[in-house]
Parts: sequence; structure tokens; C-alpha cells
Amino acid sequence: MKQFKRTTVTSALPYANGPVHIGHLAGVYIPADIYVRYLRLKGEEVLFVGGSDEHGVPITIKAKKEGVTPQDIVDRYHGIIKQSFEDFGITFDIYSRTSSPTHRQLASDIFKTIEQKGGFVEKTSEQYYDETAQQFLADRYITGKCPHCANENAYGDQCEACGTSLNPTDLINPKSAISGSVPVMRETKHWYLPLDQHEAWLRQWILEEHKEWKANVYGQCKSWLDMGLQPRAVSRDLDWGIPVPVSGAEGKVLYVWFDAPIGYISNTKELLPDSWEKWWKDEDTRLLHFIGKDNIVFHCIVFPAVLKAEGSYILPDNVPGNEFLNLEGDKISTSRNWAVWLHEYLVDFPGKQDVLRYVLTANAPETKDNDFTWKDFQARNNNELVAIFGNFINRAMVLTQKYFDNKVPNIGELTDYDRTTLKEFEDVKTNVEKLLDTFRFRDAQKEAMTLARIGNKYLADTEPWKLAKTDMDRVATIMHISLQIAANLAIAFEPFLPFSSAKLRTMLGMTSFKWSDLGKLDILSSGTELGSAELLFDKIEDETVALQVQKLLDTKKANEAENHKASPVKENVAFEDFQKMDIRVGTVLDCQKVPKADKLLQFRIADGLQDRTILSGIAQHYPNPEELIGTQVCFIANFEPRKLRGVMSEGMILSAEDADGKLILIQPKNTVTNGSQVG
Ligand code: MF3
Ligand code: ZN
Repeated sequence: MKQFKRTTVTSALPYANGPVHIGHLAGVYIPADIYVRYLRLKGEEVLFVGGSDEHGVPITIKAKKEGVTPQDIVDRYHGIIKQSFEDFGITFDIYSRTSSPTHRQLASDIFKTIEQKGGFVEKTSEQYYDETAQQFLADRYITGKCPHCANENAYGDQCEACGTSLNPTDLINPKSAISGSVPVMRETKHWYLPLDQHEAWLRQWILEEHKEWKANVYGQCKSWLDMGLQPRAVSRDLDWGIPVPVSGAEGKVLYVWFDAPIGYISNTKELLPDSWEKWWKDEDTRLLHFIGKDNIVFHCIVFPAVLKAEGSYILPDNVPGNEFLNLEGDKISTSRNWAVWLHEYLVDFPGKQDVLRYVLTANAPETKDNDFTWKDFQARNNNELVAIFGNFINRAMVLTQKYFDNKVPNIGELTDYDRTTLKEFEDVKTNVEKLLDTFRFRDAQKEAMTLARIGNKYLADTEPWKLAKTDMDRVATIMHISLQIAANLAIAFEPFLPFSSAKLRTMLGMTSFKWSDLGKLDILSSGTELGSAELLFDKIEDETVALQVQKLLDTKKANEAENHKASPVKENVAFEDFQKMDIRVGTVLDCQKVPKADKLLQFRIADGLQDRTILSGIAQHYPNPEELIGTQVCFIANFEPRKLRGVMSEGMILSAEDADGKLILIQPKNTVTNGSQVG
């Protein structure tokens, strides 16, 4: 493997249109931070770059909804996000933003360079234009009927009801979300990155030269490459973003996915105006992108193609991409508020950043999607952090206080048992390194935890409290070794649990520490005075997690109510169309449950001409169907008859759906003649 001089680590720039949640942390920022802290502890030269991604259509949509400017939105969330990262100990060397002047300049320059080298293709195509609002419409700004599921509110890029991804031209009856008018097709010119022309070298570079990339990342790249790459537009008709820096491009901005990754470079430049280039242009620099799976194609294919087209930048050596974290079995969603927000977590669990860091790493979605549950959060805290890590440290501290006046005692002769223990614990360093070097953070943390397990077992087996009356020299050796194990824990866990590691180092009186000390038995010198013993972790009670679960249940309820809230009025229909429906009143002669169908009631209705049978899916809302006998209901008499459960249903009974999903029959208040028309 190539030896590099330094490492540039980037983590995906989160969109500044909402706060960050546990999914962001688990998938991107914790792994990146662990890795960076590890390199720093090893004394390597490393730069960790972060920032907010402040362009793109969703930000403009949010601004419009709130009646504020896009800049207001990004100012608000950039601040919140930056604070959350700081609070959770994500140690960026810089966290800046893509609305910064440095970024605007650099993104423009890179575009211009590629343009001048002939690295783009200009193409004119037809796109939807809103004549009322006088602007081209981004895919998200067009709504219409989904051709697959008939959902009336599908977006131009996706139908959220059935999940199908769409092109705006797929929509039936497209409408502009800005003015409500029907958009027209109009010609517009855009700059395209001809990815097809980059395919050959990308294939060679990824598929042949980077077989070591994580299987999920490599696999996604391979399937993109195998499908064949298409030119991709890198400009948009939009008024929020970096203007396309060539003449004749009025009203056009750089596509957000063109400018955002350049943010990594601009932020480096902002931090190090004189020496940024060595982090981005020197072949001896190793570039790593930490990202989530939805970002893979942009970081492995599109951005490298941009850098290559520009010509003076290095390409990533690895792209450790993770899968997604779900929350209590459901996909995390900002719009549905289905998330654990970092700023809210800290209000409910002050000072417990490390607990979340620990659980999210233990459960990291490294190879497949994973689930976060509050029960698992509690169990890992109570059974691992408290019962294993905290318990060991606490015993080591308390015993030293009790027998040795809180000072590290001298080490005496080692027994065979001591030697076996030490052997086990020396392996931990190599194992953790191997795992960290290959971005397997969950296993690395698990392996680091074996230090605490070894410590606990050592104390339990040697029972120093029993020897205290007879053999204080032996007790001294045992406690000396135990404290060295504790010091090892402080080092090994610095990347994972930085807050607890710092606390532990203070308790142990460790002033300096480095990765190379790991596995050693002389980290603490005899006679060192220990600090006061504090609990590193404490138990999380059932009531505490029950509150969190309740919070999520409330969100679910609120979402359900929201879904039922006044759905938008459907398109107008002509009176003649309404007249086609024959809605009538009839009296219920009989009503009973359909055997083996939980939802269906079978009605016999006197409709004024003859009697008819109608099946209706309201059984769950009328548990005593016989009570309906003798009452009147409304039904569509000319509804195409259809067979349900082997019974011919001749019509449709009308009911209203309440906000909570309850169905209530539409019934006339005063009795009318059977067969009376409704209209
Ligand atoms: N904002 C994007 C997202 O949240 C990530 C951008 S990463 C960058 O999915 F490289 F473009 F910055
Ligand atoms: Zn659909």
C-alpha cells in the first residue's frame, strides 16, 4: 500500500434546511471523528473538514413556505448544526459553509477552468416553465397525478405515496407549485458534465484499482458503471446558488451537487489560505470522504470526474460510505419529524454525549441498514458502559483510595496469571488498529471494550480485597496493573468516547497520552496521585426511556392526524359529470359481518325499486351492525357491481372519514322515501 504523508478527511456537508439527527451522526460524523482522533493520537498529520451545504431546491422551498429568504433558513440551521457537532465532540478543523465568499469564488473558478478546457457539453432541452411566475420549474416545484398510483400530489422527481421516482413529464395534469398554473415547455440551455467520456478511467480506477473499498460502496459504483454513465447537467434555472460564471448564463446557477463537494476544498482554503493546496493537490496526501449511501455516486463518480476534468486535484483514496440508520423500525424522516434530534437529546440527556456516541457506534449501519431503539440504548448503557467499563474503573479507583491513599502503588513480581492477562491485553492494540484502519468502527469499539472486560475479570479473579489482610505487596501489584489497564482504556476510548476519556484521564492524573502507549504497563508511574473518583456512566431508568418512546408515539399520532387533515380539494368536475352519479337513500333491512373478513359488512338495502346487497368496509367502526337495521343510508346506485368474497356488491355506501381514520355513515336526519336522490 502506498505510504502517504498526510490525510485529508471530509464528512458530507449536511443540508442547512434542518437540524441534524442520530442518523447523520451514526452514518457519517461519528465514524469520521473516530478516525480523525485516532490519526491525531498516532501523531499523524490530518485535516478534518466539515461545513453546511447551503444551496439546492429544498432550501428555497422551505424558505417560501415560511415566507423568509433562503439565506434566513441557512443562517438559522448552519448555527444549530454547527453547535450540535461541537456539543457531540466532532472535532472539525473547520466547519464553514457553501454560502461563504471563498467558496463562491473557488466553485466559480473550478467551473470556469473546466469550461475553458472544453470539459462540459452545452445542450438545449425543453423544460417546464411557469409563465405566471416567469421562471423555470425545478422538479420539486411541479406537482401532479402519479401515473403509477394516481396520487394527486406527486412531485416532479418522486411520488411519495408509492415511492416511484419520476420525471416531471411523467406527471398527469402537471401544476406549478409556485403559482398553481399549468406549466408550459420551454427551451433552456445547460452545461453537462459528459460522464460517458469519463467512464473508462473511472472503471479502471474504481473497479480495478480500488477493490479494497467497502463492499456496499464498491457494489453501488459497479452497478452505476455497468448501467453506463450519462452526461449530467451541472447547472440549473434557479435564483438560489452560485451564478454560472460565463456570459449568456443569466438566471442560471451551479447545480448544488456541483458546488457542494467543492466546499470541502473551499473550507480548507478558508482555514489555511496559504497552505491549503498541499491538502488537495499533493500526491502524498490521502483523501478520504465519509458519507452516507445516498451520496456514494456523487463522491465516487461525479466529484472525481469534476476534479479530473479540472486537472490539478488528487482523487479520493477511499470513500467509507455507510448505509442508513432507522429509528424504532421506521425510516428517519425530517419532514415527518421521525428522528432523535441532537439538540433535543442533549436537553433530555445532558452530559450524555458519549452514551449516544457509544450506542450509535455499536449499532453503526456499516454494512447494512440498522435500527436504533431506545430499549437497546438503555441496555447498552446499563449493561456495557455502566456494568463493564464504569464498574471496572470505579473498583480500581475505590480500591486504590482505600489501600494506597489514592496513589499508584509499586508493582512487584508478576505471577503467571498476571502474565496471561497482560498477553491478552497487549493484543487489543493491534486488533483495534486493524479494525480502525479498515473503517470497521463497531468492531473496533467492541475490541477496545475487551480491555474493560479483562480488567473486570482480573479483579474478580485476583480478589485483592481478600488479600489485603495478608499480602499487601500482592495487592499493590494487582492495583498497579489494574490502574495501567484503566489508563489503557483512557487511550483506547479517546476516539470513541472523548468526554469520558478526558474525565478518566483527570481521575488517573494522566497529563499526556498517545496511541503508541497503548498496550503498555508503564503509562502511570508509581506514586502518581490520582484525582477524585467520579462515576463515568450512570444507569438509565425505565421511566426515562419510556418518556422517549412516548415522545415518538406522540409524533406518530400527530403524523396520522396530519395525514387526515383536510386533504387538498380535487380538481373541478363539470355538473354533467356529477350528474352521472346516481346517489340515493335506502333503508337498511339487514346488516351483518361477512365471515372471515374483518372489515366487511354485508347490507341488504330497500332502495325503493327492489332490494339490493351492498358490501362496505366499515365493520371495524360499527361493532354492532344489527343496530343499523331500520336506519337509512346513502349509496351510489349506479356503481359498477363487483364481486367481493364471492358476494355480488351492487353499489357503494357513503361514509365520511374522520381525522383519526374513523368511518361514519352518511345518514339523512329525517326519514325520506327510499330511492330518493341525493344531489
Ligand atoms: N448535503 C448533502 C446531503 O445531505 C451532502 C453533500 S456532501 C457534499 O445528502 F460533498 F456535496 F458536500
Ligand atoms: Zn405514486
